[in-house]
Amino acid sequence: MVIEDCKKINDSLSIKFVNGQVTRFSLFWLRDHSTDGQSLNKITLQRDVETFALPASPGIKDFQVIENGHKLLVKWLSEDVISEYDAKFLYAIAFDELKEPVYQLWNTDLQDDISDFNFSQVTSSGDKFLPVIDAIEKHGIVTFSDMPTDMGATKKLLEQVGYIRETVFGGLWNFSNNEAHSDSAYTNVGIGLHTDGTYAIDPPGLQLLHCLAFDGQGGFNQFSDGFKVAQTIKDENPRAFDILTQIKVPAHYMEDGIQLRAKHEVISEDEAGHFQQICFNNFDRSPFMLSENDQQEFYNAYGLFQKLINDPAYQITFQLKPGRAVWFDNWRVLHARSGFTGFRHLAGGYTNREDYLSKKFTLRGESPWNE
Ligand SMILES: [Fe+2]
Repeated sequence: MVIEDCKKINDSLSIKFVNGQVTRFSLFWLRDHSTDGQSLNKITLQRDVETFALPASPGIKDFQVIENGHKLLVKWLSEDVISEYDAKFLYAIAFDELKEPVYQLWNTDLQDDISDFNFSQVTSSGDKFLPVIDAIEKHGIVTFSDMPTDMGATKKLLEQVGYIRETVFGGLWNFSNNEAHSDSAYTNVGIGLHTDGTYAIDPPGLQLLHCLAFDGQGGFNQFSDGFKVAQTIKDENPRAFDILTQIKVPAHYMEDGIQLRAKHEVISEDEAGHFQQICFNNFDRSPFMLSENDQQEFYNAYGLFQKLINDPAYQITFQLKPGRAVWFDNWRVLHARSGFTGFRHLAGGYTNREDYLSKKFTLRGESPWNE
């Protein structure tokens, strides 16, 4: 983005970009965001300027749009500091919230269109992993083929994103139908659509399931795009949407010596109104009570969400076979498993959302100062 014009208006600079959009930056904000060597550490991008020692209204000697509108230069009055700002940075900071979301909603149409990656290809070097991150950002779910059927491969894949999250279930899981924990995941019964860790203050970000062995029948995994269901409710039932974005639902996990508790809204949006997180697990919901009227409205809205995620029109389904893995965004995609007979051995693990985001920013060369 390029600056077309810049004017000083009182204690601000008013900037017009070539696409006609105009915004004002206060002189105080501009001084606080100077990227000169004394104001910003170039290596860590930590702020060195003494924000609270700045005058309430810093005066300027001069300002200039340079490099054909790609940069703005500001010379300050009472100090020997020259600040340079990229037009692209100024535009992004002012208008980024108006951007379309990067995710694409899906229903059954993803069934034959899911991004499938070859394990050895994407783990061969760091930058080969970027398409996986791009696909997870877009659809919240990807699969892998040709994986070795050992836990070394599970670990290698998880560590492409970051360290494996330690939970009460351990770090790298290795589970079969042997009931090692008091959770239905460790049995062969069907598990309805849910997100994991509704009882965690920071629910797991990505979840990987890698099939090491399966000798039996059934055990299909269903997945539903929680953002698609949220959008449907937002469009068709705004009252239910308000309830699902406002009421915090408590949840718990208990086993001997452990009691985890947290509360989350079923649907969360970010400041731009884009979907950010889905938290839904009716099995783990704790007792809570609302006023009589709110209670009924909550059950209606919660029931509507449950009905839509369980509607086959909003689902994809597949059977994990040995050598195949599925990796999904637990802040978006709900997962379920139908019952099975025989023996199934899965490995997997969680990575934190912040580590997935960290990998995304790093591989794309992004920073808060250059977006
Ligand atoms: Fe689960």
